[in-house]
Amino acid sequence: MSILTGKHILLGVTGSIAAYKVAELARHLTLDGAIVDVIMTAAAQRFVGSATFQALTGRPVLDDMWTLPEDGVVGHVSLGQHADLLVIAPATANTIARLAAGLCDDLLTTTALAVTAPILIAPAMNPRMYEHPATQANIALLRQRGVTVIEPEYGRMAEPVIGRGRLPEPWIIEAEIRALLGRTSGPLRGRRVVVTAGGTHEPIDPVRFIGNRASGRMGYAIAAAARDRGASVTLISGPARVQPPAAVTLVRVETALEMQREVESAIADADLLIMNAAVADFRPAIVAGQKIKKGDDEELTIRLVRNPDILASIAHRRDLVKIGFAAETHDLLTYARDKLERKGLDMIVANEAVASIGSEDIQLILIDAQGIERLPLLPKTEAAELLLDAIVERCAARWSDSRLDLGAAHD
Ligand SMILES: Cc1cc2nc3c(=O)[nH]c(=O)nc-3n(C[C@H](O)[C@H](O)[C@H](O)COP(=O)(O)O)c2cc1C
Repeated sequence: MSILTGKHILLGVTGSIAAYKVAELARHLTLDGAIVDVIMTAAAQRFVGSATFQALTGRPVLDDMWTLPEDGVVGHVSLGQHADLLVIAPATANTIARLAAGLCDDLLTTTALAVTAPILIAPAMNPRMYEHPATQANIALLRQRGVTVIEPEYGRMAEPVIGRGRLPEPWIIEAEIRALLGRTSGPLRGRRVVVTAGGTHEPIDPVRFIGNRASGRMGYAIAAAARDRGASVTLISGPARVQPPAAVTLVRVETALEMQREVESAIADADLLIMNAAVADFRPAIVAGQKIKKGDDEELTIRLVRNPDILASIAHRRDLVKIGFAAETHDLLTYARDKLERKGLDMIVANEAVASIGSEDIQLILIDAQGIERLPLLPKTEAAELLLDAIVERCAARWSDSRLDLGAAHD
């Protein structure tokens, strides 16, 4: 079950050239279990036909304030009362201005004023329209009133202009929707979570490094799952091969030493640390300033020195819930149990290194003081969901707080 399952989302579509992109968003939200009611402005219908949204959501598109639904309930206010979220994407300069002024001249703006759920808008327009003081003042006012605004992207617009005003891709808007729903009702709302992911690159010379096969997939899925449960997530990522999730704070690092520095800084006000990154145990003692030439040598010896043990260096943070990963090629459970105790972890997540590092699927074994739980072999995104459920359960006990969804934990 995802954070979207059974959620009632009102999707307002306005008259921007980017309206076509939102058809894909409506499809994804529906496939992920949300009930999506699309409200189109008259201008939006000049860009995309309502039949597109109707077919993708399986529900009639709403565009007329004056047509009462069959049950006779007054549509313009009842819509807003049953929604979990109102998303307006793309949001035109015109609709943003109407929202800021509190106008109610069509079904969308009337619903926006009557809605009790959070509102998320994704402005999309020509860069000059976006940067105009009127638009900026309207957006600032909406933010002040608690509306969440997704920054438009910088790039090439539909017309040959480059600037800020592009609608972010649908998967980014979906991530923001998941994060907002999580912050509203998720079990980790109000909590700060730090996740490390990917591998590390330890430089040998300016063009070479010692690395590993970590793809970033598992750690990224964990960060997304924590975000969907309402946590404010800092994702510290070493080199990886996949797209990092949106709606998290991403900190990129290369080496184990950089990873250590960023983890130490990020955990200052965190509640939970999940160390998934494959961090190099050793690094070259000397990094050559110039590319090493082979010359006549038949052999090259690189002396390695130990990298610091990040979990050991933060052992003093006893208030922090710490989850470690152990990927081993042999004696998996013995090494994992030893790591759990030696590093004072709340849980260790063991997995068979050859099968899981760099691959799409993983079998996780969760080990804590209570015992062992083996999860099935699953795609990493699904494994991350089950892992986060298990972590949330343990956090409840560890924080010895019956109100896990504190909401105000850091407010
Ligand atoms: C081809 C075309 C593209 C447009 N694209 C945008 C846009 O991306 N963003 C925007 O704010 N307005 C855009 N407009 C202007 C809006 O459609 C216009 O302001 C309209 O009144 C918006 O109505 P609405 O906010 O009720 O949907 C565009 C107009 C045209 C003709």
